[in-house]
Amino acid sequence: ENMRFISKASEKEMSLLAAQMLAAVLKEKQRPVFAMPTGGTPVGTYKALVKLYQEQNLDFSKGIFFNVDEYEGLGRENPQGYYYFLHEHLYQYVNVAPKHTFAPDGKAGDLEQEAAEYEAKIDSFGGLDVAFLGIGRNGHIGFNEPADFFRYASSSVTLSEDTLRANARFFSDQKAVPRRAISMGAGTIMRAKSIILIAGSDKKDVIKRLKSCKDINPQFPASVLWLHPDATIISAEK
Ligand code: GLP
Repeated sequence: ENMRFISKASEKEMSLLAAQMLAAVLKEKQRPVFAMPTGGTPVGTYKALVKLYQEQNLDFSKGIFFNVDEYEGLGRENPQGYYYFLHEHLYQYVNVAPKHTFAPDGKAGDLEQEAAEYEAKIDSFGGLDVAFLGIGRNGHIGFNEPADFFRYASSSVTLSEDTLRANARFFSDQKAVPRRAISMGAGTIMRAKSIILIAGSDKKDVIKRLKSCKDINPQFPASVLWLHPDATIISAEK
């Protein structure tokens, strides 16, 4: 089946639907493996998941959680880091098993080796069940920036000017925005059994572009999702 596009009236409804879909996988599978995104967009979904944990005892201890990406130079304890983000918005509130929450080590001396080890770690759990994703205005998924090719596996990446600008808002010192990162590859993401991508009302243009694009082009990374048999794109009108 082709990609499903679901448009919700509000970001709250978008977030809730994504949370319900993730919760369903947590309930159904024995040991589900998730890719977890950061950024402004998934905050509402993580809030909704915390609520499901508190009100319905949703059991996070069964899950394995992998950050989609991490900045170079930022360790787990760094508030601007992506592992920290997941801890701050989700992990600290639910019964995840800390040993089952993973992120690339942004402080690794050799980023390429760290990325390879990260990919191997994902493989050791049988690959991703769900790749939960946001999207960049330039169509990036994770930190897979527009490029000449799709990456098969996790790797170190150089961030585009576009992305540096978009993410500068999370840093008080603009010069502190890391220029490199480790990201799951398009291949890592495409090998997930299902994909759930959320896009708030600030992403209308890129979702429109994704909807109408029929060519799979690494210059527009999200276009690869058209090849996935079970991808759901949830966007918000307002
Ligand atoms: C960031 C992250 C992505 C995220 C995207 C959108 O750079 N690396 O994983 O999906 O850009 O972020 P936001 O939701 O803040 O717009």
